[in-house]
Amino acid sequence: MIICKSSDEIKILRESSRRVALILRDLRAEVKPGVTTRYLDQLAERLIKNHGCIPAFKGYRDYPACLCASVNEQIVHGIPDDRKLQEGDIVSLDLGVKYDGYYGDAAVTVPVGEISPESQKLLRVTEEALYRGIDKARPGNRLTDISNATQQWVEKHNFSVVRDFVGHGIGKNLHEDPQIPNFGKPGFGPRLREGMVLCLEPMVNMGGYEVKILDDGWTAVTADGSRSAHFEHAVAITRGGPMILSDL
Ligand code: MF3
Ligand code: CO
Repeated sequence: MIICKSSDEIKILRESSRRVALILRDLRAEVKPGVTTRYLDQLAERLIKNHGCIPAFKGYRDYPACLCASVNEQIVHGIPDDRKLQEGDIVSLDLGVKYDGYYGDAAVTVPVGEISPESQKLLRVTEEALYRGIDKARPGNRLTDISNATQQWVEKHNFSVVRDFVGHGIGKNLHEDPQIPNFGKPGFGPRLREGMVLCLEPMVNMGGYEVKILDDGWTAVTADGSRSAHFEHAVAITRGGPMILSDL
């Protein structure tokens, strides 16, 4: 069941999402060669508390950290550890918080120092794929109009879109209906309505779309070892069109 939100609820969701955006901005400023993903997670925990929020991921299905930090061939759900980021790496920072009873969730993938032109292209194409999807988040459209716009953009640039993970509704729960695949034919699924709040989160691989899960039970990596990027925004569907809640 898809829960539509009132305009008062959307105001709170904007507040929680905006805090995620502010924290991601501060984390991103710390990304440089030599920094560990554990340091980023500890900083995230402090910032979450300073903003009056509760970490959304820590303890969720026993996930052990506040942040997901996914490096290079890691797609999503990378667990922060003592690995030092290196010049040329890319790292996805995915963060969720709860504020005033409502969740915020967003992700960015950032370069570590100088990265190769092909990696730069991966980040650009993935972020733009997110915006192509967001543009379809309008009342009257169908859910898979979002999926299709995302997939079309990615495949046009000869990358592949991950099938095994989806976007989701968000509200008083971190994950609500509907599930939002990043691929598929347009014109299917529920009709989009005013008041729906959706997290769109395309994951794009340089090589094939196949995924493997590491022995830690969380970290999703590309089966072929190619690099992967991930961007996520929380978006409210309004009469006037898509309203991005997790921007600055
Ligand atoms: N942004 C991801 C999601 O919405 C991150 C979840 S990490 C978890 O599904 F630890 F909370 F599972
Ligand atoms: Co999410």
